[in-house]
Amino acid sequence: MQTRLVVPSEEGKDPASTFRTNQRPLSLKFMQIFLMFLVVGLCFSIIGLYTTKFNAVRNIMPIAPSIINVRLEDVSDIKSWIKPPTNLLHNMNDTELFWRASFVPRIKKYPFKRVPKIAFMFLTKGPLPLAPLWEKFFKGHEGLYSIYVHPHPAYNGKFSPSSVFYRRQIPSQPAEWGEMSMCEAERRLLANALLDVSNEWFILLSESCVPLHNFSIVYYYISKSRYSFMESYDDPGPYGRGRYNGNMEPEVTLSQWRKGSQWFEINRRLAVDIIEDTSYYPKFRDFCKPGCYVDEHYFPTMLTIHFSRLLANRTLTWTDWSRGGAHPATYGGADISEEFFRKITASSQCYYNKQVTSFCYLFGRKFAPSALGPLLELSLSAFGF
Ligand SMILES: *[C@@H]1O[C@H](CO)[C@@H](O)[C@H](O)[C@H]1NC(C)=O
Ligand SMILES: *[C@@H]1O[C@H](CO)[C@@H](O)[C@H](O)[C@H]1NC(C)=O
Ligand SMILES: *[C@@H]1O[C@H](CO)[C@@H](O)[C@H](O)[C@H]1NC(C)=O
Repeated sequence: MQTRLVVPSEEGKDPASTFRTNQRPLSLKFMQIFLMFLVVGLCFSIIGLYTTKFNAVRNIMPIAPSIINVRLEDVSDIKSWIKPPTNLLHNMNDTELFWRASFVPRIKKYPFKRVPKIAFMFLTKGPLPLAPLWEKFFKGHEGLYSIYVHPHPAYNGKFSPSSVFYRRQIPSQPAEWGEMSMCEAERRLLANALLDVSNEWFILLSESCVPLHNFSIVYYYISKSRYSFMESYDDPGPYGRGRYNGNMEPEVTLSQWRKGSQWFEINRRLAVDIIEDTSYYPKFRDFCKPGCYVDEHYFPTMLTIHFSRLLANRTLTWTDWSRGGAHPATYGGADISEEFFRKITASSQCYYNKQVTSFCYLFGRKFAPSALGPLLELSLSAFGF
């Protein structure tokens, strides 16, 4: 900011110094004319100074103050590398952001007490109608989570300073269901969340998701799991292998092609792998076009190729596909009861750290805004918060 401000005042000085070297042989009248120009010039440079200052302030405003602090003040202090950005509205474009987010320390032991956090990443169209339920869920667990919201860029969420969602919106781009822009939005969420070194687990959620258990249970379940919850399976049918395109070879072969739910939970290592990817990305962008539903294939396939042994191959987010069709069932206020949620648990079976369990889901979707009231009423008895 300071260098910007110096420039116009130097420019202002330039005409004055040329004037001084040339003035001696000139008459008094010329002197007066030059003086007049000098005054006018000074006025302009003052105006210039103020507009530059105004623009400079406007340009700098959205940058995270912590980033400024890192560059100018605190480079000698480890705290600047640990402290999460306090303002999420940085000025980096995706290329710059992904590059920055791909920094990984080579020394595995942290030289400070790192409390691993869960990054809750909300991919939304606009508002978060179930926010009050999430507020209740997060209450009292500060320091163990961070929140990121990626809405349509035209949407500007209004949350009060006391809300956990206050100023948690990241710079976003439009995202279309089933298209590459959806995967780009998810990578953008991951990259922003990676800027906080304490984020260890990354969960993708939507505005229609609800937590099915309290925070302590969610944290325990995720932190004690040996696997990341990326659903990944080989579907021989038309909606699985049928969407594969031979042009993806040699990066992706038919036998490597996977399908899985968009709603994942992954650890930091896998998150970095996703944002640093440049080999699978162009293949999926060019050969998994609409009708292929790239958000159901890109991450499951590339992570299975790279880290198959680290994947639980299932999702933590319960969705009801039983009604058939392209969209899962949406539940409103009239559907909500303790019995409803008990059934979800009773009817599931899965593996957790190689043990068979009926405790398979931490989140559920889809829930309509009308479900909020009933959900808030039974959250203590049904979810334990
Ligand atoms: C980001 O900015 C850099 C430098 O101007 C440019 O090379 C790059 O293409 C930009 N990336 C995007 C995604 O716009
Ligand atoms: C997930 O599937 C892969 C094969 O795609 C397998 O190697 C891995 O062991 C599976 N994970 C678990 C936890 O069973
Ligand atoms: C979370 O839920 C579990 C089981 O429902 C309960 O035992 C525990 O006390 C709850 N924890 C908090 C912090 O409310």
